[in-house]
This record gives sequence, C-alpha cells and structure tokens, in this order.
Amino acid sequence: MEKTFLMIKPDGVQRNLVGEIIGRVEKKGLKIIGLKFLQISDKLADKHYEEHIEKEFYSELKSFITSSPVVAMVLEGDNVVEVIHKMAGATNPKNSAYGTIRGDYAINFTKNVIHTSDSLESANREIKNFFKTEEIVNYVQSSQIWNG
Ligand code: GTP
Ligand code: MG
Repeated sequence: MEKTFLMIKPDGVQRNLVGEIIGRVEKKGLKIIGLKFLQISDKLADKHYEEHIEKEFYSELKSFITSSPVVAMVLEGDNVVEVIHKMAGATNPKNSAYGTIRGDYAINFTKNVIHTSDSLESANREIKNFFKTEEIVNYVQSSQIWNG
C-alpha cells in the first residue's frame, strides 16, 4: 500500500487549522499511520528542503519552517501520494483552486499551510527524514470496510 508524507506548517498550527486539516484527511477516508508534533531544527529543514537550499526564497522558507511547531503525518492508501497532493492544491495559494486546502486557507507563497510529497520517491525520502520505522503503526482501520 502506498504511503505519503503530510506536514501542517507553522502557519497552520498557529492559525488553529490542525483539527480542520486532520478532519479533511479523515473525512476523505485516508488512514493515518504516523503522527507527531515537533519543532523543526535547522538541520532537519536543510534535509527536508535539500532541493531548495540554493534558491533565493530559501532563507525566508527556512526561518519560517523552523519558527514554530509543525504536525507531521504519514498517510497510507491507494494512490495516496496523488490524492493528498491534489487535496493540497497548487503550491502558490494565489493559484490554488477553492476546495483545496491551500485554496481555502492560504494566500501567501511561503505560508501555504501544508506540505505534501509530490511523488512516491519524495514520500519515501521525507517519511524517513521525520519518522523512525517503529513510529509508523500498522493496524486495521475499521472504516475501510465502509470507505472501500
Ligand atoms: P508541491 O509544489 O505541491 O510539491 O509543494 P511543495 O510544498 O513541495 O513545494 P516546493 O517543493 O516547490 O517548494 C517548497 C516550499 O517552498 C513551498 O511550499 C513554498 O512554501 C516555498 N516556495 C516554493 N517556491 C517558492 C517561491 O518561488 N517563492 C516563495 N516565497 N516560496 C516558494
Ligand atoms: Mg516539493
């Protein structure tokens, strides 16, 4: 079964959107198999955003992502990488469709509420950056019988 990484960024936590976003994930029928609340270190920020370190927006992104706690999640499900990436909406919230998380809750490019993995390869790398193997829990979700 496919796994992906979802993070509620510092603005989402500070704006009390954690319950709203987890609610959307649950209502969609996705399965949470890892969940933690943490403050991102400088080292973890550089690891998570390694592809952006040289970019002009990185210093703003790094100080933002390390400024306040985040909620990190591992989700499991059929095609879950694409499903949650679509639920997030376009990266720049000015272009995100209404009905998507960024389209509904964000307006600023840096403070765009959540991060989601953009491919299976990124998902595997990002999950490993944030979770130890024993922090990911395998269990049967009873609602799968109803959600399919
Ligand atoms: P996806 O595009 O859905 O994969 O989201 P992502 O969050 O992984 O985006 P990406 O890897 O392209 O960039 C990481 C984060 O850096 C984004 O979520 C933005 O917060 C920020 N970012 C990316 N590009 C820009 C930019 O051109 N300007 C600013 N200010 N921030 C940017
Ligand atoms: Mg990305």
